[in-house]
Amino acid sequence: LARGVTRPDLAGRHVVISAGGTREPLDPVRYLGNRSSGKQGYALARTAVARGARVTLIEANTGLPDPAGADVVRAGTAVQLREAVLKAAADADVVVMAAAVADFRPAVYAEGKIKKKDGQEPAAVELVRNPDILAEISAERRGRPGQVVVGFAAETDNVLANGRDKLRRKGCDLLVVNEVGERKTFGSEENEAVVLDADGGETPVPYGPKEALADTVWDLVTRRLD
Ligand code: CTP
Ligand code: CA
Repeated sequence: LARGVTRPDLAGRHVVISAGGTREPLDPVRYLGNRSSGKQGYALARTAVARGARVTLIEANTGLPDPAGADVVRAGTAVQLREAVLKAAADADVVVMAAAVADFRPAVYAEGKIKKKDGQEPAAVELVRNPDILAEISAERRGRPGQVVVGFAAETDNVLANGRDKLRRKGCDLLVVNEVGERKTFGSEENEAVVLDADGGETPVPYGPKEALADTVWDLVTRRLD
């Protein structure tokens, strides 16, 4: 077992993890996307497998190799990700939303490539809201007693206050809050975070490998499952 984990404390548990970032198409060759690498979600999947869980990893546009021992489902857009997460969550003990879900998508998808025309100003891109998957899963869970729901948030300022607020708004059990800024780049192998608990708890995780943060998340999750 990985990293000092001495017992398979997630054995018999089904955990669902979303990872990566959604891409919202404008036309066949263009999309609105974000810079999530998916590495934190993959670290969660690897560590959950190591701790004995059955893992469903729902990945959006990561390009990363499938982690051994996990069932991998691919989802490109927020709407596809929602469908995959809701389906897998039906019998899940834990749902972790590590994916960066686009808040908006283009209101119209152009079937053909959008072309520029000489002397014409570009048209504005109209956007519509995407569904909030984490809030939906957290609300649905009332019908599934015992399911633990975990969210992620990247904040640039008032990190803890914004995190507390978001945890309440989403209705999840745990929220992993990262501070992002100029020095804290996307795609790195390391991470620093605070895990907020709906009960008021706060667990700081020092700068280190994404596996260490993942194991801290599983420690807090198993405490809630027991
Ligand atoms: N999330 C989600 N569905 C969305 C947007 C976000 O499930 N449409 C999830 C993310 O996977 C993450 C959590 O919600 O686990 C927080 O995402 P974040 O973007 O920080 O939250 P938002 O409510 O979108 O707030 P903001 O306006 O700060 O982007
Ligand atoms: Ca958002």
